[in-house]
Amino acid sequence: MAWEKALQLDRLKRDGRAVAKIGNRQVALFQTEGGILACNNRCPHEGYPLREGNLDGACILTCNWHNWKFDLRPAGT
Ligand code: FES
Repeated sequence: MAWEKALQLDRLKRDGRAVAKIGNRQVALFQTEGGILACNNRCPHEGYPLREGNLDGACILTCNWHNWKFDLRPAGT
């Protein structure tokens, strides 16, 4: 696996969230106090863009469509 440039950090810092196209996938990125979190932008339920979801202080992302929840904390934290 190789690193790929996703987007300009200034853009993420300005908006707090962004979507980057990496290959044929869209990745949602979130700027938090603890660092940058990322996940697939398409909800696995019915495909709602997770960039639009609600990210709480515990790094739980809630999809706005049917309220599925995703723990974005890095493994082991
Ligand atoms: S599309 Fe995300 S919970 Fe249904």
